[in-house]
Amino acid sequence: MEKKKLCLIGCGNIGGYHLGHFMQYGDLIEMVGFCDLVHKRAEEFAKKAGQGRTYWDFREMYDKEQPDMVFICLPPTVHGEIEKETIKRGIHFFVEKPVALHMEIAKEIRDLAAQRRLITASGFQCRYSNLVEPNRTFIRENEVPYICCNRFGGIPSAEWWSDKAKSGGQLVEQTVHQCDLLRYFCGEVDSVCSMGGRGFVRGEVGYDTDDLSVTIVRFKNGTMATIGTGCYVKNGNAFDSKITFSARDKRADLRILSTLDIYGEQPFAATEQSGFVVSGDGGVAAAGDGKVRYTQEGDAGLICDRTFIEAVISGDQSMIRSSYADAVKTLAFVLACNRSMELGGAPVRPDAL
Ligand SMILES: NC(=O)c1ccc[n+]([C@@H]2O[C@H](COP(=O)([O-])OP(=O)(O)OC[C@H]3O[C@@H](n4cnc5c(N)ncnc54)[C@H](O)[C@@H]3O)[C@@H](O)[C@H]2O)c1
Repeated sequence: MEKKKLCLIGCGNIGGYHLGHFMQYGDLIEMVGFCDLVHKRAEEFAKKAGQGRTYWDFREMYDKEQPDMVFICLPPTVHGEIEKETIKRGIHFFVEKPVALHMEIAKEIRDLAAQRRLITASGFQCRYSNLVEPNRTFIRENEVPYICCNRFGGIPSAEWWSDKAKSGGQLVEQTVHQCDLLRYFCGEVDSVCSMGGRGFVRGEVGYDTDDLSVTIVRFKNGTMATIGTGCYVKNGNAFDSKITFSARDKRADLRILSTLDIYGEQPFAATEQSGFVVSGDGGVAAAGDGKVRYTQEGDAGLICDRTFIEAVISGDQSMIRSSYADAVKTLAFVLACNRSMELGGAPVRPDAL
């Protein structure tokens, strides 16, 4: 089989993550071009890959290399012209999340890509985790009225990150992964109410974003959720990322790309030690009675990238769990949270954006 030609635009942090995956797909692709405004970064990528030419102008790269597909790994504000030119040339594309910071740009790209029938994907690799299917089964088999989602971490190193105008803010740039999974599990969002807080991160230069936010979500299927998220954490011990799905007589705790614990699958045997302790929380119930644990296997990001490449080869978009068009819906979800923060917590419907 003739190998497909792949280009990468944006040789930064996440570009390096994808490069590590491409190097394992020598059977499928040839890495023909690396593009970055900082040319040294593109050169380092080509050196590591042991193949490909380097560019600072993506148009010149497209002219010379005529790629079949491109991975676009750029800061959130650098979306629009590059995707439109990519579509015009009929190149299949993978775009990192968040796919844009404005709905008008994202919708235009979505519609143009659909007209050309291009294969598209976005960087929601968590959807490819082996924990996702048992989690979906749990939700299918149990009514889940309420979901509690938390993500508390620190500040990433990218120089654009701490400015909300450049990153979209902490919820849009980071917690978009959790929001995307909630959509994957529960369907579309009816409305959100969000409140943001600032001042918990101290001593950062050029810092200008909400470092804490709390959101109430109502899904169209009636499920309600809360999302607490922040970036003021300084110590790994304080880091917390967990989604709890609360059913009537069971509970699932998802630690993304790590573990899925389902409580209540097996009968809870009350012992003398456990006494009248309410079953469910492993921290309280003696010996974690009734818990079933699933553990992350393999690298979901590797599967995510390979799925896109295989979809380009086969022409089968249906293999992809997060198309560009689907990522636009997740963008509407998180931008609705931002809008609600601006309105001091008033309800906002993603469909209205
Ligand atoms: N899927 C994930 O888990 C994940 C993880 C980290 C980052 N991301 C996303 O990936 C995107 C990039 O993040 P990052 O951390 O890699 O940022 P980064 O700043 O490390 O890398 C971006 C690179 O793009 C280059 N660049 C900027 N404008 C360009 C242009 N017009 N043409 C060519 N190159 C250009 C920069 O010089 C830089 O090298 C962001 O949207 C981020 O949210 C996704």
